[in-house]
Amino acid sequence: MIRSWLISAAAGTLLAAGSVGADAASLTLYCGADETWCQQMARGFEEETGITVDMTRKSAGEIYAQLKAEASNPKGDIWWAGTGDPHLQAAEEGLTEEYTSPLMSELHDWAIKQAETGAHRTVGVYSGALGFGYNKDLLAKNGLPEPKCWADLTKPEYKGQIQIANPNSSGTAYTMLATMVQLMGEEKGFEYMKALHKNVNQYTKSGSAPIKAAGLGETTIGIVFMHDSVAQTVAGFPVVTVAPCEGTGYEIGSMSIIKGARHLDEAKKFYDWALRADVQSKAQEVKSFQLPSNKAATQSKAAPDLSTIKLIAYDFKKYGSSEERKRLLKKWDDDVASLPQ
Ligand code: F6P
Repeated sequence: MIRSWLISAAAGTLLAAGSVGADAASLTLYCGADETWCQQMARGFEEETGITVDMTRKSAGEIYAQLKAEASNPKGDIWWAGTGDPHLQAAEEGLTEEYTSPLMSELHDWAIKQAETGAHRTVGVYSGALGFGYNKDLLAKNGLPEPKCWADLTKPEYKGQIQIANPNSSGTAYTMLATMVQLMGEEKGFEYMKALHKNVNQYTKSGSAPIKAAGLGETTIGIVFMHDSVAQTVAGFPVVTVAPCEGTGYEIGSMSIIKGARHLDEAKKFYDWALRADVQSKAQEVKSFQLPSNKAATQSKAAPDLSTIKLIAYDFKKYGSSEERKRLLKKWDDDVASLPQ
């Protein structure tokens, strides 16, 4: 008798705990930044608001594909970070929700322009320039010259020495592809990608993986965002960061609320929170050295200074459009990835 009473009391407690869990505010976050920054954002928001965050880190192209696959039954609430092009593509395809934060007036013009380009279904949260980095010890050991320009990376002496991500999964690598097309014109840009292909030892899934591999001595050169390369140097690895001599493209890392979000109020709360200066200033604590979109946010002295880098006038409207992104990725698959190395 006592035993059965104990069992039903315990079951009652479990049921109560279960229903409390179900009712408690929660948020499903698809995160496109580095894992440590994603964790910092998820835990920071939880601590401040009491809203439980279920976070998954994926690359930008993967999150876009997930939103598309889940469109009829959305599981995510908010997509924070990752390169802006797939955010713009999602906006155009109606996969994300229109929202204008009361914090918009605190943002840099480029972040506001990103929102306008995406019909206010997205907004800029940070920016960063593309470049590459190399392991100076490995470079010296292999007797290789210091690469300074994009053109250097296609030279035969770097065969098997370069790593970059796959542009289908990685926003970084798509930024590289779109940068070459804008810098050189489409024909020459693709010729460049084919020549580079001969020197690539591996196409990774995530954009920053190549420079982490360079830090560990697994590859000599990694094509990445410059802030990801600087992060390796700050972490103590023998990595040197290069702003390519011809000029380079850049990203506007973005944030979007997912269409049909089950926790729309919480998603809006996170959106406003992530635009705050004090929240953005914390990125440097986890070695994320992007330029924050809130004008009052502070940046580490180690961060690349975008005003000293030769940047192209990256056309986000065009290269973030659904048609152009699909077309370039298919062309890369057909004309570049299929070639022998
Ligand atoms: O957090 C590092 C970072 O390089 C971001 O600046 C960028 O938006 C994102 O990763 C891109 O990741 P991926 O290339 O894996 O999509």
